[in-house]
Amino acid sequence: MDCMRMIEPAPAVALMGVEKRFGDYMAVRETSLTVPDGAFVTLLGPSGCGKTTTLRMIAGLTDPTRGDIQVKGRSVTAVPIHKRNLGLVFQNYALFPHKSVFDNVAFGLKYRDMPRAEIARRVRETLALVQLPHVEDRRPNQLSGGQQQRIALARAIVIQPDVLLLDEPLSALDANLRGEMRVELKRIQRELGIATVFVTHDQSEALAMSDILVVMNQGWVEQVGPPEEVYNHPASAFVADFLGHSNILPGTVAGEDGGFLRVRTDAGPEILCHARDRAGRPVGRRVRLVMRAERLLLAADHDSGPGCNLLAARVRTVDYLGQSARYFLTTTGADGDPVAGVDLQAINPIDRHPVPEGAPVSVRIRGEDCVLLDGDDDG
Ligand SMILES: Nc1ncnc2c1ncn2[C@@H]1O[C@H](COP(=O)(O)OP(=O)(O)OP(=O)(O)O)[C@@H](O)[C@H]1O
Ligand SMILES: [Mg+2]
Repeated sequence: MDCMRMIEPAPAVALMGVEKRFGDYMAVRETSLTVPDGAFVTLLGPSGCGKTTTLRMIAGLTDPTRGDIQVKGRSVTAVPIHKRNLGLVFQNYALFPHKSVFDNVAFGLKYRDMPRAEIARRVRETLALVQLPHVEDRRPNQLSGGQQQRIALARAIVIQPDVLLLDEPLSALDANLRGEMRVELKRIQRELGIATVFVTHDQSEALAMSDILVVMNQGWVEQVGPPEEVYNHPASAFVADFLGHSNILPGTVAGEDGGFLRVRTDAGPEILCHARDRAGRPVGRRVRLVMRAERLLLAADHDSGPGCNLLAARVRTVDYLGQSARYFLTTTGADGDPVAGVDLQAINPIDRHPVPEGAPVSVRIRGEDCVLLDGDDDG
């Protein structure tokens, strides 16, 4: 109904069956995605998975081989870049070295038939927003990397774009500055309420900043959702492994116990899993069991509690990380116990000293923290 359509605003960006081929090489496979108005959407994935290509297609820098792209409900596939009203920031911020900061920021407004006083007002407002109000007359090389990146951002947002497109804008900055800038960037995005597509291969950046996370792999979108959902309920082994560290054990559904499924892993131990993943997984079905390293808790006691798995193990090696440690463990079990000899990793916060190498430990994992994926016999 038309009146229904009026109530629901068009998404800021919609990709509909978009595909990009370079010769025989499929850089982006058929992808459909929407960026809701005002949302911060992150494309996350390893090098070469198609993030930049996707962003460039939205920007109009690369033509899709197939499919349609809409901005605010209007197809832009045939609209040239300068008519798409998008703000772009790339990794190497490409400011004009011989222009002042003022002229760099004002550049975006140059072709918009705007009175000089209005241009000056907008540039100053935007410089205040990125918290660099007193550098108008300087040249880019008289600014730090972080300041230059703020100017690049100011230049992108001064035009009041419909969508902000950011390709690894923080990756040239050192770790501390990067952390500060990501808070800053999020603040500015929220203040302007501007729909943003952000590209990164840094998972902590993606988890911290996004309203919606899009995990890509080899030109495919593997999973889309709020960061917490994607993190806690990975839809594939790739996502489980790429976001954080996961233990992935193949096994077979062996039975059901109250609200839990019993999974006999090929490596030996039987693990109780929350039965939320039960649908289509009868006894005998092959599965892969995903347990995040941070959810394996090293405990001194042997008290498992209901719905909790407990495995005896020994610490093989420890990676000391400051506030936490990453433990490489091997399960032990009693004499002749088939649970012995499974390699697991656990990441736990540490008080002062990590558990030492060689120490015997109990490893606790709640059935609720185990996620089931289809196993090796499922297509
Ligand atoms: N102009 C081009 N011609 C041919 N192949 C290309 C071209 N641009 C990109 N590709 C290929 O497409 C694939 C996706 O590239 P893209 O730049 O989108 O990756 P990315 O996810 O942004 O990676 P990174 O994290 O390294 O920036 C890569 O294998 C790349 O080599
Ligand atoms: Mg890239």
